Amino acid sequence: MNQFSGKTVVVSGGGAEGIGFGIARAMGKQGMNVVLGDIDNKQLDIARTKLENDGIEVLTVQMDVTQLAQWQSLADKAITRFGQIHMLVNNAGVGSIPGTVEQTDDKDWRWVLDVNLMGVIYGTQTMVPLMKQHDEQGWVINVASMAGMIGVPTAGAYTATKVAVVGMSESWYVELKPHNIQVSVLCPAFVKTRINLSGRNKPDEIKSHREKGGDASLLSAAKHMQKVIDNGLSPELVGERVVEAVGNKELYIFTHPNYRKVVNKRFQAIDDAFARAEQSELLSSVLDEDVALYAK
Ligand SMILES: NC(=O)c1ccc[n+]([C@@H]2O[C@H](COP(=O)([O-])OP(=O)(O)OC[C@H]3O[C@@H](n4cnc5c(N)ncnc54)[C@H](O)[C@@H]3O)[C@@H](O)[C@H]2O)c1
Repeated sequence: MNQFSGKTVVVSGGGAEGIGFGIARAMGKQGMNVVLGDIDNKQLDIARTKLENDGIEVLTVQMDVTQLAQWQSLADKAITRFGQIHMLVNNAGVGSIPGTVEQTDDKDWRWVLDVNLMGVIYGTQTMVPLMKQHDEQGWVINVASMAGMIGVPTAGAYTATKVAVVGMSESWYVELKPHNIQVSVLCPAFVKTRINLSGRNKPDEIKSHREKGGDASLLSAAKHMQKVIDNGLSPELVGERVVEAVGNKELYIFTHPNYRKVVNKRFQAIDDAFARAEQSELLSSVLDEDVALYAK
């Protein structure tokens, strides 16, 4: 028996095809009970059938991660069915509409921030207290992105949310460790999903002018992006990788080792900037004491 067997995982955005479903299936194969929350009821039905055919115990709940009350309702249903919650996978997320600073309007920003950032916050706020109630191991797995490691041009809103998710994961990793809750953050590059069509779940009233056909350049950007995504990893492989890395207690979970050099370039640029600050006479009086707060 492995450490996951008989435990319960909640996966947001676990509809039948994307990364969430890949993780749910991989965890289900480890013997976990699976709770899937998603805004798309059709995909949930397909997901339930697929998982039940694999012999996995599954509960599906239609919900919107941007609504705190819907998280609570999902938690209640999960506890009624399975008794306890051990693992949360904050996976639901949307791609931002490609655009420069000027092109990205308030509606674009709000939607991406609400789903990708507030969705993760609400999920964690709801599930962590429930994990603390039992003395068994807990896990929080946040799905960020390679965009959480390197800023992506014309994707400022998406990048902002994914950098935030990496930062929150680092913060919670330290904070929740004494409570026997292990935090991980998944940072994939391209995975073959429908992320490029995220607008499919977007209410019409919050669609921006550009999305409603007001900007022809969006179509060609979407086509280009689709080609890259179509060459991405399979969600199934990502799911198996998450099982492997969580089993190894990894904080940062990478799926694309080929991006190591790109991320290292960023680290080097940061280190070089520190070296210049060290050389600056303006900063010679800065003391070391407050560093301890960060160095846990
Ligand atoms: N596909 C990639 O290349 C890639 C790369 C890095 C990170 N990611 C991240 O992976 C996660 C999953 O995305 P994916 O690629 O599987 O895309 P996807 O579009 O296939 O899956 C997203 C799922 O989230 C659901 N969802 C969307 N809004 C929701 C809401 N408000 N409430 C509840 N459910 C909602 C959708 O119905 C869908 O099932 C996202 O956080 C995304 O940012 C994806």
